[in-house]
Amino acid sequence: MVGFGSGKVILCGEHVVVHSEPAIVVSLPLRTRVDVIPFSGTFIVDKRPKHPNYVPYKQNLYEEMAATIADAFGVGRLYSFVLSGDLPVTSGGIGASAAAAVGIARALAAMLKRHLGQREIMEIALSGERKIHGNPSGIDTTAATIEGILLFQKEEYVLFHHRIAPAQPALPMLLVDSQKTTNTKETVAAVGEFKKQNSLLWQTLMMEYQAIFAAVIGAIKKRDIEALGKLLDQNQSLLDKLTLSCCHVERVRDIARNNGALGSKNTGSSRGGLVLVLGRDAQHVADMAQVFTRVGYFVVDASSSSSSLSTDKNPAADQAS
Ligand code: MEV
Repeated sequence: MVGFGSGKVILCGEHVVVHSEPAIVVSLPLRTRVDVIPFSGTFIVDKRPKHPNYVPYKQNLYEEMAATIADAFGVGRLYSFVLSGDLPVTSGGIGASAAAAVGIARALAAMLKRHLGQREIMEIALSGERKIHGNPSGIDTTAATIEGILLFQKEEYVLFHHRIAPAQPALPMLLVDSQKTTNTKETVAAVGEFKKQNSLLWQTLMMEYQAIFAAVIGAIKKRDIEALGKLLDQNQSLLDKLTLSCCHVERVRDIARNNGALGSKNTGSSRGGLVLVLGRDAQHVADMAQVFTRVGYFVVDASSSSSSLSTDKNPAADQAS
């Protein structure tokens, strides 16, 4: 039996989303496929494509994640999960663990003939993802489950999502791996500490963020790519103020700027991992991809991400929601 989970890219609001601010996330047409096989002594058999400098430091945590999801279905050590598909594992930011968690939950649901809705899949997957990321907001597992450009917000214990654009023409996005492995559990904890130590500054920064968020929604609705580019830069300077930037990311952003990018920002965990670079159009994204590849960066061309998104085309779409 098979299950799928999609990767994602956060347009704005990583980290602040953990503290109940709304964020905007795009699910990618790149997915992790999970096949269920009889238990082979380990829960995870990992055959996913990886970026060249991949460090398998999360292997044990993936085992814990799979065990938690298996427990939620009451199957203990009956099955192992083979991870494959076209979603590459990067040095952070693409939602690989959430995609795997959703794929495992869906594969088990199919295997056990449990007709679970999207919300139940997301909840089970999130309980697994907590083993890897500590206190995730649920944005990654939501985007791994539901396709489109989504507004996501966590309010107390309620996770809210709303699809802003189901079949919007593609955003010309390039994802560049900064080659610095990032750790979501650590960066989320660091931001929690920053908030505790700087409560007045935090409030000011959240007001700054809320203005960016509102403008990003406006830019997406009007499909104003130039405005969106500037907003990505503004979101990046906010990440910088939250101590989440690093020289690896800034180097990628410099190259992007020198090649005419409309804007760029770290996406997801931050302090490394992926940099989202916005181009003028698909051709510009392809040109920038060549430049980055030539100087040794691993890139993911995500420019077709939203155009190819439709529930009909999703092999993993739930029957119920
Ligand atoms: C990770 O993709 C996004 C973070 O905001 C963590 C989370 O929301 O779970 C850094």
